[in-house]
Amino acid sequence: MSLHDKMRLATRIIHFGSHPDPHTGSLNVPIYQTSTFVFKSAEEGGRRFSGQEKGYIYTRLGNPNHVVIEEKLAMMEGAEAAVCASSGMGAIAAAFWTLLGQGTHVVADKTLYGCTYSLLKHCMHRYGVETTFVDCSDLKAVEAAFRPNTKLLYFESPANPTLAVYDIEALAAIGHRHKVMVGVDNTFCTPYLQRPLEFGVDFVIHSATKFLNGHGDVIAGFVAGTKAFIDQVRAEGIKDMTGSTLGPFEAFLIMRGIKTLPLRMDRHCANAQVVAEHLAGHPMVESIAYPGLPGFPARDLVKKQMLLPGSLITFNVKGGFEAAKAVANAVEMCALAVSLGDVETLIQHPASMTHCSYKPDELAEAGIGLAMLRVSVGLEDPADVIADLDQALAKA
Ligand SMILES: Cc1ncc(COP(=O)(O)O)c(C=O)c1O
Repeated sequence: MSLHDKMRLATRIIHFGSHPDPHTGSLNVPIYQTSTFVFKSAEEGGRRFSGQEKGYIYTRLGNPNHVVIEEKLAMMEGAEAAVCASSGMGAIAAAFWTLLGQGTHVVADKTLYGCTYSLLKHCMHRYGVETTFVDCSDLKAVEAAFRPNTKLLYFESPANPTLAVYDIEALAAIGHRHKVMVGVDNTFCTPYLQRPLEFGVDFVIHSATKFLNGHGDVIAGFVAGTKAFIDQVRAEGIKDMTGSTLGPFEAFLIMRGIKTLPLRMDRHCANAQVVAEHLAGHPMVESIAYPGLPGFPARDLVKKQMLLPGSLITFNVKGGFEAAKAVANAVEMCALAVSLGDVETLIQHPASMTHCSYKPDELAEAGIGLAMLRVSVGLEDPADVIADLDQALAKA
């Protein structure tokens, strides 16, 4: 076994897939900011298009900056392959359109990122794809939702924004009994905290906009799974159906971000634990969800599936919608902004922001309260995050 084969994850995340530039010796893969690649001959161009010969053609079909991050992400997820996309939604749409078509059916969790919900509920519906939304913690309800034309079981764990944690292994087994593909959005965890493929799912989605990049300056996504599925997503979902190609510069930034992922995730989670414990005892907090708190309902699953409890916290403010809005308006250091996984602490109001595609009854069904705030705890000193939230809560 070589030294490389024995390397631990944190080392592999830094070294895997990146090789010094053969022309200049540049340690980091240079940015190949080009739309097209020149062929030596018409015959070479023909061979590349027909797949007889490996090589670059056109950046929508692949670029060296994509290859580095796709190989890193696949290694981290324990997947055969991964493909990057120009956003998390681009990755989701490319995977869904590759799998689904007119007359097909999806079983999905009732609590999904608002745009994923809207894609299934409002957009794909127009093209004859139907979705049944179920509570993925109720395995009997999941089982009962399948139809002969079901092609996909899809959920997030933890779910955005409730942080509900589901039994990935049990859900994968149910999906496979019904002979459908099972996909999980692993954005909240990253493969550093959770590797759903190890629990039997078929593919994993990431919004790399979040922790994977980590610096709040890129929109990007990934799909990871078997080589056969990823080849199909690349050739159909990305290339033809969505054209959701990641720019080379964005890919370079993702490579830069991924190298510090373990370091950042350890600190994100440690900070979130301190902030969550403080909020749990705050007199203005009606209820709180953080997978690292002892009262969290699925603690056994958190321990089984996740290395650490993540850095998202949701809490309901006493006093309802107006009180929650007052807290959001009163933060001074934390940013009142959607997204998550940045170095800065971000706070937002899901019911009126990220999840506004849910109608009021659907919000209630999904467990998204009007007084709920979602905090993505950043890398500041947690005492400063607490001081800011305390002064904001005092104004509610
Ligand atoms: C869980 C989850 N999945 C997917 C997405 C979509 O990612 P993007 O904004 O990169 O398209 C988001 C965005 O917030 C998200 O929170």
